Amino acid sequence: MSLIALLLVAAFLLPLFFAGCGGGAKQQVASVDLFFTSQTRGRLTHCGCFSGQYGGLARLRSAVALHRGAGTVGVDVGDAIEGTEDFHLLKHRQVLKAYAGLGFAALNAGAREASLPAATLRQLGSESPVPFISANLRDAATGAPLLKGWTVTQRAGRRLAFVGVVDPALLPDGPGAGVEIEPMETCLARVLPELKGKADAIVLLAYADEAALTALAGRFYEFAAVLGGQVSQPAPRLYQENRSLVYYTGNDAKSYGRLELRIARDGAVAPGKHDMVLLTDRYPENQDILDLLSAYRTEVRHTRLDLDDPARALAGSVPGVRAASDFVGSPTCLGCHPSAAVVWSKSAHAHAFDSLVYRGADADPSCIACHTVGFGSPGGYRREFREAKLTHVGCESCHGPGGRHVAERASGGPINFHFRPLGPGDCQKCHHGEFSRPFDYEVFWPQIKHGKEPRL
Ligand code: HEC
Ligand code: HEC
Ligand code: HEC
Ligand code: HEC
Repeated sequence: MSLIALLLVAAFLLPLFFAGCGGGAKQQVASVDLFFTSQTRGRLTHCGCFSGQYGGLARLRSAVALHRGAGTVGVDVGDAIEGTEDFHLLKHRQVLKAYAGLGFAALNAGAREASLPAATLRQLGSESPVPFISANLRDAATGAPLLKGWTVTQRAGRRLAFVGVVDPALLPDGPGAGVEIEPMETCLARVLPELKGKADAIVLLAYADEAALTALAGRFYEFAAVLGGQVSQPAPRLYQENRSLVYYTGNDAKSYGRLELRIARDGAVAPGKHDMVLLTDRYPENQDILDLLSAYRTEVRHTRLDLDDPARALAGSVPGVRAASDFVGSPTCLGCHPSAAVVWSKSAHAHAFDSLVYRGADADPSCIACHTVGFGSPGGYRREFREAKLTHVGCESCHGPGGRHVAERASGGPINFHFRPLGPGDCQKCHHGEFSRPFDYEVFWPQIKHGKEPRL
């Protein structure tokens, strides 16, 4: 009985199946779920300077796990690397592992990647566990491409090509040593014919601003989607320009974009579900990614870096001009300024380095500058000091080096040196952006208010 039923069902379905392979095939649509990031800038996790911060790959991993399927594919539009220093490269290796773990299919070079020297780009291109692409970064000497211009990946039975470009206008000081950036339009006009017949849909990853993204979509009709970019806010909505869907995210990787592409057999593409996902603290931080951060912090602690060379801090100062003063450390100030000392000792500033130690971040150059005294200037905190001196946000983090002041005040001789008056701008060199709750001097200063000793 059941066998008969089965045969009946088969007999009924068979013609439909063949119809599906024939004329009706054009209607057969495959769904590819694209998710994309931009401007991650080394953020395996947010910095942790206040609670409730958004973003970071550790949250991204939890978020994409919720909708991961056979048809999902991730790509990064650019600026995955934090910067061009040696320690940024150490961190970037862990970031690449994170992206590999996320199953990303391509990472495009953004402005920060384009600032790396040619040799470093080539090396990253051959070592990266996720294809690292750029169609318009070239060797300045030979004109040869530094990276693969595009990559093709298969999802849900469709071949997707990702082509990457970076807008040279975003690098007013030019790219890294030995690197040349071809104008995006010239480069794409050259590269697109190479892709003919190799993909069912082509997606452009363009590290460019809103206007440039729209212009690229208007200029070329080959792209199913144009994804960006270098923007201060993620796209408020998905829009169509010419034949492309344009969508962008950025804003320090606080969000990522999701775009379902419904690709017909003939290559016609229609948008499906799409949204910008804000990586709030409702997404837990994935432990594997946090482990990559710990691995970086352990490695950076035991690696001698360019910035550990004391000559480098001096190189930043004017040649032949001696620093006005040296850093002496907060304990030296306390005795003559007892009332300021009390306020400071009770403030969070006096414990700022402990916050880094607690997180294993006390040797991470990305964190030290705002949690110590004078990091990066001559005589300021250096990593080899560890917890010995010039740690925490001390008197001299705000007032500047106090060596001359102390010498003159202690000698009883004439006073020639005076600290300059301070204001809100001096707080904001640390209390800004992602590193601080919104800063309002009228609210923050009263909490650490101090001044001259009352006259007796
Ligand atoms: C060198 C960097 C730096 C400068 C300059 C700086 N701060 Fe801070 N500030 C910090 C850090 C780091 C913390 C957090 C310390 C911690 O908890 O580890 C902090 C914390 C604070 C807090 C404490 C918040 C709390 O929860 O207790 C206040 C208030 C504050 N700062 C006010 C100011 C004001 C006002 C100025 C300018 C006059 C200023 N800060 C300048 C780095 C700085
Ligand atoms: C640009 C300056 C700056 C940098 C760089 C910086 N911090 Fe901070 N950090 C601050 C300031 C300012 C605060 C205080 C913020 C506030 O009170 O709103 C703070 C506070 C903190 C706190 C105390 C948070 C709390 O709730 O008590 C921790 C922990 C911390 N930072 C860790 C880090 C780590 C880890 C890094 C490196 C990834 C880092 N910071 C880099 C400026 C900075
Ligand atoms: C977070 C930044 C910050 C820290 C840390 C800090 N100060 Fe200040 N200090 C200020 C600001 C802002 C003022 C008020 C504006 C001004 O007078 O320049 C001030 C004022 C003063 C004054 C009075 C200046 C005058 O001309 O009236 C003295 C003295 C002083 N601080 C000493 C200290 C000592 C000593 C310490 C360490 C125990 C310290 N400060 C730590 C920011 C700071
Ligand atoms: C030997 C004592 C002594 C030491 C040590 C000392 N100060 Fe002073 N400081 C003074 C005296 C005295 C004044 C003038 C106070 C007055 O006019 O009421 C002063 C004034 C200041 C002022 C006001 C601006 C100025 O230049 O007159 C600031 C700010 C200040 N000190 C910060 C510091 C800091 C920061 C340290 C540590 C690096 C420090 N002081 C160490 C004695 C000292």
